[in-house]
Amino acid sequence: MERNVGRTVASTERMVDYDRNSSMQVQMVRARAQWLRAAVERIGPVTPEFTVMDYGCGPGHSALHAVLPAIEAYRQIDSEGTIVVRHSDQAGNDWSALMALVFGPDGYQRHASRVRTEAVAGSFYTRLSSPRSVALGTCFAASHWLSRAPAPYSPGTAWFADLKGEARAEFAALARADWTRFLRCRAEELRPGGIFIASTLGSVPDDGEINGIRSSARRLYRAIFRVAQGMVADGLLDRSALDHFVFPLWFPTVEDVCAPIGAEPDLSDKFEILEATVTPAAVHPDDAYEESLDDPATYARLYAGYVRGFGESSLRLHLFGPSAKNPAEVDRLTEDFFERLTRFYQSEPGRHASETLTMTCVLRRR
Ligand SMILES: C[S@@+](CC[C@H](N)C(=O)[O-])C[C@H]1O[C@@H](n2cnc3c(N)ncnc32)[C@H](O)[C@@H]1O
Repeated sequence: MERNVGRTVASTERMVDYDRNSSMQVQMVRARAQWLRAAVERIGPVTPEFTVMDYGCGPGHSALHAVLPAIEAYRQIDSEGTIVVRHSDQAGNDWSALMALVFGPDGYQRHASRVRTEAVAGSFYTRLSSPRSVALGTCFAASHWLSRAPAPYSPGTAWFADLKGEARAEFAALARADWTRFLRCRAEELRPGGIFIASTLGSVPDDGEINGIRSSARRLYRAIFRVAQGMVADGLLDRSALDHFVFPLWFPTVEDVCAPIGAEPDLSDKFEILEATVTPAAVHPDDAYEESLDDPATYARLYAGYVRGFGESSLRLHLFGPSAKNPAEVDRLTEDFFERLTRFYQSEPGRHASETLTMTCVLRRR
């Protein structure tokens, strides 16, 4: 049963207060510095310019960490050549905040010479650069966002990994089609010999879990659902909106990552898989905020902030919007939800800990 609520189908429009709420993503990107350096060394000097493009860059410090190791490594092998840094995200990204960081005290432009910064607005499910123009492509904590937000009838969960039957099949098919499309776009943009690195939340086989798959952050998404259920019970949210709300995400397994490259001849022709893994995160794999466990108020604030950072836009668009009569009500529901989520985490520190499995995919353009 599909529900036509006449709303946008974008999965998310932007991240909210992202720089303040993205310490987890910053850690993930920083842990990839060595990969970036190794990729630049393997690609070698490029004329007339070396282009690094970060897809789904967001507005925060992680966008700097995504490119700085590549800039430094390239300068080691070519002291004079022009480096182009192309930050790419959806049009609604906070571009002013990003440029303030790039040109600010922590930014790479502060001491750089012959580094040109470009911003590219658009969906990474489309082609965003001219053919064969990108030497190094990266995508951190972003490729798990689907191209649109399906709203299948899915009572009992708001999370792709717990979906069953037709709803799961619909999400699985969309995730596969999206990843295939994403890879086709990158195959066109990368120059031969170029390298593409994607890293985001992943999933691993686990017979003890629903659908035989254990996905990152399972307790967090189940906690979010419980809080939303409480709002339905209190008459604040429309039950049918929650019954049709699923975060438009898919955290891939290694099999998901490799499947289109194995099955689609154009992709196997163009890409060599250098790495495809899903492993526990390098930092705090069992509880993203375990360092604050002995301070429940801080622990709860960090979790609520994390969810606000990546999830507020989707919750507003696809859960609170359909339940509200006007924008002011959407604001009130949003604030109420995050207050409740904070209390939920504060009341049982550790119980709803978010585990992190990191997917890493490194591809070389033949
Ligand atoms: C969690 S943030 C990650 C930002 C940054 N890469 C990091 O590692 O912290 C996810 C980003 O993906 C972007 N995003 C989601 N779907 C997208 C799409 N279809 N095309 C381009 N960017 C997208 C969002 O706008 C957001 O900035």
